[in-house]
Amino acid sequence: MCGIVGYIGKNNTKQILLDGLKELEYRGYDSAGIAVLQNGKFSSYKAIGKLVNLKEKTSDFITEGFAVGIGHTRWATHGKPTELNAHPHIGESSYVVHNGIIENYAKLKKELMSSGVSFLSQTDTEVIVHQFEKNIKSSTNAFEAFSKTIKELDGAYAILLTTISEPDTIFFAKHGSPMLFGRNKDGEKYFASSDTPLMGQASEVNYFEDGDYGYVNESEIFIFDKNKNKKDAIYKKISQNKLSAQKDGYRFFMEKEIYEQSSVISDTLMGRLNDEEIVFDELDENFFEGINEIKLCACGTSYHSALSASYLFERYAKIRTSVEIASEFRYREPMMQKDTLFIVISQSGETADTLETLKMAKKAGLRTLVICNVDNSSMVRLADATILTRAGIEKGVASTKAFATQVTIFWMMSLYIARIKNTLASKEIARQISLLREVPASVKVSDEMHEKLKRLSKRYLHGHGFFFIGRDIFFPLALEGALKLKEISYLHAEGYPSGEMKHGPIALADPELFTIALLPEHLHYEKSKSNVEELSARDATICAISSKEFDKADDFIAISKCKDYMLEFFEMMVVVQILSLEISIRLGNDVDMPRNLAKSVTVE
Ligand code: G6P
Repeated sequence: MCGIVGYIGKNNTKQILLDGLKELEYRGYDSAGIAVLQNGKFSSYKAIGKLVNLKEKTSDFITEGFAVGIGHTRWATHGKPTELNAHPHIGESSYVVHNGIIENYAKLKKELMSSGVSFLSQTDTEVIVHQFEKNIKSSTNAFEAFSKTIKELDGAYAILLTTISEPDTIFFAKHGSPMLFGRNKDGEKYFASSDTPLMGQASEVNYFEDGDYGYVNESEIFIFDKNKNKKDAIYKKISQNKLSAQKDGYRFFMEKEIYEQSSVISDTLMGRLNDEEIVFDELDENFFEGINEIKLCACGTSYHSALSASYLFERYAKIRTSVEIASEFRYREPMMQKDTLFIVISQSGETADTLETLKMAKKAGLRTLVICNVDNSSMVRLADATILTRAGIEKGVASTKAFATQVTIFWMMSLYIARIKNTLASKEIARQISLLREVPASVKVSDEMHEKLKRLSKRYLHGHGFFFIGRDIFFPLALEGALKLKEISYLHAEGYPSGEMKHGPIALADPELFTIALLPEHLHYEKSKSNVEELSARDATICAISSKEFDKADDFIAISKCKDYMLEFFEMMVVVQILSLEISIRLGNDVDMPRNLAKSVTVE
């Protein structure tokens, strides 16, 4: 999704903007651009494709001394990914960058065009700068014109605007898309869509709330809330540790993040396991009081972890649980009852569809909880309570360690509720807590396993599709395995419940149909095995993942002998992640930034 950076200061503005955009690459983009106002003159550069193209275009452009700059990575929503559609967008003497969607742009554009304004791009964003310049003619100053403009916009936005008449100022507005402001003791000022570009630059940051707008100049910041009341910035220290955001010698961030799962799961567990109970300091003792049902809502990978949760919650905590895809839930006029706990799951905490369902649940008076990886994100700020997954920055667009930590949290939470509701014997809770302690070891990647999957991957680069199949909680894992493969290999893959194959998909079975079969020894083994045999009998190519030898498989990936199906779950999770990674690498794809995808989808 689009990323924004801004800078006011005396350092190398061009480099600061380009470095900032680099840190936002993980959000996904198809073009990029910057505009710098220096010595009363604007310079702007745009390029399609990767940032290296923009870097090349700006190689002769030098910024020295005080300057004001804005930059943007664009993920196309209105109009193709072309240079003209890339941001910043120009008016007569101003530039704007924007993340989000201006819903009433067509109406504004029509009005502007009928008064003689011509447009260069097909974007919704361009109306902002023209509307601003129209308003400036009837305003006493640029800020008045900017405030008027913001009030005229419907939709979601994070906006930065610079104009020639105020050469030391950036105007900003935030509504529905993320944006923060940072500063340091040298008086440098920064804007960005997330923390990463500001690490190592700013010492403290202010996270804007929806409805905030204002301006920053060389000496001060003015923030107004949605009711036009002036408010103070609330500064927080920002972590300066960038190391964790680098690749550490791995070929791709995704690979690094798969290998990190062991240590991040340890972090997720830290301080939360006693011998006999789970401790969530973040939750009030009576948080679950009066709750008779749980509704989980999310998108993408987070939706799959929510599905896994539904098996654990009903099995262990005996609480009615349903799972919803956020983009569907938003518009289907759902029934919401006050005795339901509404849980949203999101790595980023910014996914527009999920955020919107959280707002709906709050409006309906439900208790809300977010399972999230990003502190201070929009969802964290909105929900009644938060449990942070502690996965660290996840840069690979295809989520891995975030999923692993989400499932870990859900397993813990099912035991936490089971204890409150007395649905599991304390001995069983204690047994499962000792299993949870084994998860970090079970997700460690062995060289031998990685080597085997690398070799195997060359046999799975063609065919007419993949089915990942599993039963029970291994069905969401099958869905997640298929999603990983689709996202980064661009091969067709589906996740399916093993027992459902015979009701249709088995018609596709032939040697070119690849079935990745999840066969846990400790959960419905015999049932799952017969389903795989049915496919093998019809000549489908079978790649079985299990701790038990399976002679009907064409390829067999052995996981270790585990004590429990949940440990098998985590081991198999790593196998499907690495298999997808290796297939994608062999196909020569950009593993970390797959085509058409964005890390954080802040539009619906
Ligand atoms: C995008 C990403 C997916 C992610 C989904 C939900 O589609 O490409 O990898 O699972 O958003 O993101 P969230 O941050 O809410 O977990």
